[in-house]
Amino acid sequence: MPADIERKGIILAGGQGTRLYPITLGVSKQLAPIYNKPMIYYPLTTLMLANIKKFLIISCNDNLKLFKKLLGDGSHLGISIEYAVQDKPNGLAQAFVIGSTFIANSNVALALGDNLFHGEELVSKLRNANSRNKGATIFAYRVNDPKRYGIVEFNEEGLVLNIEEKPKFPKSNFAVTGLYFYDNSVVNLAKSITPSKRGEYEITDLNNIYLRNNLLNVEIMGRGTAWLDTGTFESLHEASSYVKTLEHQLGLLIGSPEEVAWRKNLIDNKQLKILARKLNKSEYGKMLYRLVKDI
Ligand code: G1P
Repeated sequence: MPADIERKGIILAGGQGTRLYPITLGVSKQLAPIYNKPMIYYPLTTLMLANIKKFLIISCNDNLKLFKKLLGDGSHLGISIEYAVQDKPNGLAQAFVIGSTFIANSNVALALGDNLFHGEELVSKLRNANSRNKGATIFAYRVNDPKRYGIVEFNEEGLVLNIEEKPKFPKSNFAVTGLYFYDNSVVNLAKSITPSKRGEYEITDLNNIYLRNNLLNVEIMGRGTAWLDTGTFESLHEASSYVKTLEHQLGLLIGSPEEVAWRKNLIDNKQLKILARKLNKSEYGKMLYRLVKDI
């Protein structure tokens, strides 16, 4: 058995969030709240659940200092976090060029900073994706409005034929979600592609290269998993309601990096108590504190 290749994680938190103006006039979209925590906590937690411990957050220069204030170097969570600038939102595939030094010889996963995943089957799917040392894994999810996404085309046997970015005439209702796992070759592939008609370095072009080389796994996320969009007032509110409803029902947090770090033994009881105490005026902090008390 070849030794496992480490996988690093990139969170892309760029874009201007113009559909959320005026909320995003003064603050990065990925720092806007989804119920009781900043949006970026959710993709960070998703990647931590995939056992990733080294992260790069990419954003525009102005916003990076805000992310640094929120998450620091990650050591309080037993992880490491670095930061890099994307001057212009030139497309998702650029993340691998900007992050090439950070990625070095590792495999990599990319999560979009505004994507929220939740569900029972998620952790096993993430672990499977993480354990594949060669090729790429992406996740497809059934949506109502396929024109807004990268869309997977299947043949009658269910084999993937193509992925089309924001198609005028979508060939299915299965959208590619904002969570991608690649082997190290993605760095050179990302350097080799040219911008699309809309002027962006498209992640869909990278996925199609993997597909043509028979190296693309497309995992369907079933109805037991929630993939929530946060791009509009409506969807932002719905995502908050979803988290609120579940957290109240469960009495547990969803998308808490502190809790995941603790469950994964990246931090011990003492450290969780320290983190919880800092937030003890809020219900979030109290819920963290209860985790240690409950054991
Ligand atoms: C991007 C990708 C698209 C994917 C979507 C998921 O779209 O280009 O393929 O389906 O993220 O959120 P964009 O954020 O550029 O609209």
